[in-house]
Amino acid sequence: PTGELRDTRGRLLHDLRISVTDRCNFRCTYCMPKSMFGKDYAFLPQSSLLSFEEILRLVGIFIAHGVEKVRLTGGEPLLRKDVERLVGMLASQRTLRGEPLDLTLTTNGSLLARKASALRDAGLRRVTVSLDALDDAVFRAMNDVDFPVGDVLEGVEAAARAGFAPVKVNMVVRRGVNDAQILPMARHFRGTGHILRFIEFMDVGVSNGWRMDEVLPSAEVVRRIGEHFPLEPADPNYAGEVAERWRYLDGAGEIGVISSVTQPFCSGCTRARLSTEGRLYTCLFAERGHDLRALLRGGRSDEEIAGAIAQLWGRRADRYSELRSADTATLRRIEMSYIGG
Ligand code: GTP
Ligand code: 5AD
Ligand code: SF4
Ligand code: SF4
Repeated sequence: PTGELRDTRGRLLHDLRISVTDRCNFRCTYCMPKSMFGKDYAFLPQSSLLSFEEILRLVGIFIAHGVEKVRLTGGEPLLRKDVERLVGMLASQRTLRGEPLDLTLTTNGSLLARKASALRDAGLRRVTVSLDALDDAVFRAMNDVDFPVGDVLEGVEAAARAGFAPVKVNMVVRRGVNDAQILPMARHFRGTGHILRFIEFMDVGVSNGWRMDEVLPSAEVVRRIGEHFPLEPADPNYAGEVAERWRYLDGAGEIGVISSVTQPFCSGCTRARLSTEGRLYTCLFAERGHDLRALLRGGRSDEEIAGAIAQLWGRRADRYSELRSADTATLRRIEMSYIGG
């Protein structure tokens, strides 16, 4: 049962996002608030995590189903012990078309200055750094562990030097919290070659106290930046690209906006997510995942696991962001820190 898979809406399974740890050294108020993720919070025990060998085996099965892009996430993926070893194991995989996997990682950047070269040497192809503010006080308050912004900025530069240029930088925008940072961020990253992307604040999980009035529509982000630095729309790099691209007219590079609230992109959503303990989620907003670890540890063959994945994808009908409404707002949802965004 291998080969390309299509779900009930004709969408291929093309990307796999793998959370390699549920831990993080930040306590971003919208993701892992200290009130919920305190000193005695029970993170997953080591034995619950998929091992690197288990991840590699699953990735092989997903590749046989057409996956060409793998993103490592967390929590904070660089906290997973020896993550470079996992990168090395995945980097040598080839897609069905015989190309190397598009292997990338999303990090908060705190350990990147230290690890960028090793990750590059291991075969990682790209990195994305989350950064919600340039002002040190605002940034320290948002990560809520008093982490200085300078160390993350160094991480971005170290990554570029290590060969990851262009580095993508993701900023989640919350109206009234960090929207005053939009312009400083744009000004800082213009002309550096890094690609800054603004993400609309989403109603993921239940712990972040999401409210629609904290969403600043991407159109407003583009308008505010364009007033100072004129922009023009740019074509997508590939069909189904999540970020909409805008280019500075003066040649200083580009930005992106990710508008999952005001302009949902479910119709082109080819992403599956694998949690730290090996549950497969077919939507960021899914209520439940499917336990692939039980299949791995229950002695099932690759064929059997491939068959189970084919069945799950074949039944997939998710389009949460398109349906988002008062009724769905009360559903039980997984937390971003568990599934890695
Ligand atoms: P590249 O364009 O290949 O670099 O990656 P990407 O933009 O798909 O990945 P990235 O992890 O940088 O995604 C940016 C953010 O977009 C994520 O952190 C999420 O907040 C959001 N996002 C990505 N995929 C989805 C999705 O399937 N659904 C929703 N609702 N949001 C998503
Ligand atoms: N809305 C939008 N993006 C979010 N992220 C975490 N929580 C949210 C949310 N509620 C982002 C992180 C990171 C990526 C993995 O997801 O900041 O950039
Ligand atoms: Fe950690 Fe990222 Fe969540 Fe912040 S948003 S707590 S850095 S996983
Ligand atoms: Fe994909 Fe679900 Fe996000 Fe829609 S809401 S884009 S289906 S992950």
